[in-house]
Amino acid sequence: MGELSGQRALVTGASGGIGAEIARALARRGASLLLSARRGPELERLAAELRDAHGVAAEVVVADLSAPGAALALWERATAGGPVDILINNAGFGHFRPFGDIALERETEMLRLNILALVELSHAFVLAHRDRPTDRPAYLMNVASMAAWQPVPNFATYAASKVFVRNFSEALHYEQQGKAVRVHCLCPGGTHTEFHATAGAGNYGKLANASMLSAAVVAEKGVRAMLRGKKTLVTGLLNKLSCFFTGLSPRAVTSRASMFVMGKPRRDALPASNSPKSLP
Ligand SMILES: NC(=O)c1ccc[n+]([C@@H]2O[C@H](COP(=O)([O-])OP(=O)(O)OC[C@H]3O[C@@H](n4cnc5c(N)ncnc54)[C@H](OP(=O)(O)O)[C@@H]3O)[C@@H](O)[C@H]2O)c1
Repeated sequence: MGELSGQRALVTGASGGIGAEIARALARRGASLLLSARRGPELERLAAELRDAHGVAAEVVVADLSAPGAALALWERATAGGPVDILINNAGFGHFRPFGDIALERETEMLRLNILALVELSHAFVLAHRDRPTDRPAYLMNVASMAAWQPVPNFATYAASKVFVRNFSEALHYEQQGKAVRVHCLCPGGTHTEFHATAGAGNYGKLANASMLSAAVVAEKGVRAMLRGKKTLVTGLLNKLSCFFTGLSPRAVTSRASMFVMGKPRRDALPASNSPKSLP
């Protein structure tokens, strides 16, 4: 029996990267999984792996969480089979480009996913556990980023969306103290996933490359911190130090430093549909 046996966990963005590794970390502890993202075959492969490796139940719900109403529809599907005891709001993406070089529809899609879907699912989760006894904690993890520590030129809307996630999650953490819901905000630094290819990023400076971690390490640390009731975790020593000194520095300095560390956007890397020129 693992420490999460009998608990059901919903993980968004579970088709790859950090979300898939969080699902593995929860399954190792005995939790049943509801895996969601847009790519069904990847989710089905992961569900089969988790059933075989850990003997846990694993279901798949394909959903595009940037579509209006999709987050609440996912919640209804997920809770139809029983309560969701653990919610991991992980799905997210960003575009690494000057703001004016990105199609507005891609930006609004990102904001609906990174912010609105996360708020809708968090709200449903908090309501569902309002009367839950405090000796049976329910866990909510929201995945932000160390981009939440300062404005990030060329990642303007993405970094700002993660500021929202961090502040929202930390406020909920304090609101829920003494109640059953434990709220954790995971703030990864650079992590080896498809995120960078999707963002059109990757020409990072030496410091950013040196601080990159594997998704498995980030996920395991995040799940441990969530279960310990920690408010926020920045993964990796270099990233922790960077956030600490960022907090002490003037914002003009940290914004310029982030431009230097992040390097230049790769103009060749994003599909043409992400550019405003593709719009009518
Ligand atoms: N990698 C990093 O360096 C890094 C650093 C800091 C924070 N983060 C954060 O970590 C989280 C996970 O990212 P990752 O690094 O694991 O990237 P990833 O490998 O690209 O994974 C992103 C996940 O989100 C899902 N997703 C994207 N758009 C979606 C949509 N419209 N509806 C539903 N699901 C959607 C993707 O699945 P489908 O494509 O199948 O839908 C995928 O499972 C994100 O919130 C990201 O902002 C990442």
